[in-house]
Amino acid sequence: MKTPIRLGLIGCGGIIQQQHLPTLLTLTEVQITALADPMPENLATVGETTAVTAEQHYADYRDMLAKAPLDAVIIATPHHLHAEQVIAAAEAGLTVISEKPMATSLEEATKVLDAVARHKIIYTVVHNAVFTPGALRAYELLHSNDLPIPQVGRAKSLFPMDADRHSSSPARVWRASKAAGGGCIGDTAYHEIYSLETLMCSPVRYVEARVQTRFFDIDVDDMALLLLEHENGAVSTVSTSWGMAGAGAGELGNLCEVHTRGDCLRMVGRGTALHRLARATHEWSEIDLDVTDRNRTGHAGYLQTTFAALAAGSCPPITGEMALHNLSIIEAARLASDARRAIDLTEL
Ligand SMILES: NC(=O)c1ccc[n+]([C@@H]2O[C@H](COP(=O)([O-])OP(=O)(O)OC[C@H]3O[C@@H](n4cnc5c(N)ncnc54)[C@H](O)[C@@H]3O)[C@@H](O)[C@H]2O)c1
Repeated sequence: MKTPIRLGLIGCGGIIQQQHLPTLLTLTEVQITALADPMPENLATVGETTAVTAEQHYADYRDMLAKAPLDAVIIATPHHLHAEQVIAAAEAGLTVISEKPMATSLEEATKVLDAVARHKIIYTVVHNAVFTPGALRAYELLHSNDLPIPQVGRAKSLFPMDADRHSSSPARVWRASKAAGGGCIGDTAYHEIYSLETLMCSPVRYVEARVQTRFFDIDVDDMALLLLEHENGAVSTVSTSWGMAGAGAGELGNLCEVHTRGDCLRMVGRGTALHRLARATHEWSEIDLDVTDRNRTGHAGYLQTTFAALAAGSCPPITGEMALHNLSIIEAARLASDARRAIDLTEL
């Protein structure tokens, strides 16, 4: 793809401002040239940071697709808008980088992949959690056969939100709304599922789960407990909640670990540290992450890798099929919870 890639942003809210822009503004392969968001204050904030002038600010993303000269878009809007916006960008012939999840149902996701294939565009979904320094190092150790295959894994992300946050902040309001595709499993557990599956080195096949609303008066789930069986027979668990007391930053709130017959590898701090427990000695050691900036975020890693691939004319590392697979696990967990039985992903 010719560089700099002319990039439009659809949605200029929290994740764009906090995670995408700090990296995008450092990449020589990209130039942000147009912005779309119905919230004038978000357009103004991102316009100021990116120096995109008001002529290229759009309240309606469809106007931006029709009028702005673009090569690619990033979509970072509430979940129920992703499928419609990806399909519209595909029809405009643009490369699409979508925030997760790709859609709110498997039916919508299939329509997205059909549009991607029909219009022959490049499409990728942000799976940032596997691009942190800790996750990259763990992947390298596990996939280079330096360590035996994991037998058991567990991941958790526990956020102790209070009820007010669901009614006060706009980003919380849509996350707590079924109509907007919100809910704890699709928003939060989403990352733990693909992270754990990557480190387990075997795809998930069977899903048992309880996906429930236990803490807040909202019409979406606020906790999800999953028991996953992988193709190779190994098992793993994911626990995610927006309301569990005692949760918080660091190991208490967030970790992803896998156990082989010899060791345990534990990633903490959203991938800023990786620890190894040797079963023979019962001693923990910290693994060298081999990077100059261990606080480099997963978004930085994902965006750098993705735009380098686009500029080189190759496929970005996260494909639509990978995002569909993750969404299938989430859909299976909902079905498993309702039916109180394990769901085989091939049933979907
Ligand atoms: N990968 C991650 O770690 C991560 C973290 C946070 C958020 N996200 C994802 O990013 C996306 C946005 O989340 P957020 O936290 O930035 O939410 P947010 O509410 O802060 O921002 C959403 C933005 O979309 C805008 N918007 C609403 N309707 C629109 C439309 N029709 N066209 C264009 N813009 C529209 C809103 O005005 C707002 O500015 C979601 O998909 C979320 O899951 C991913």
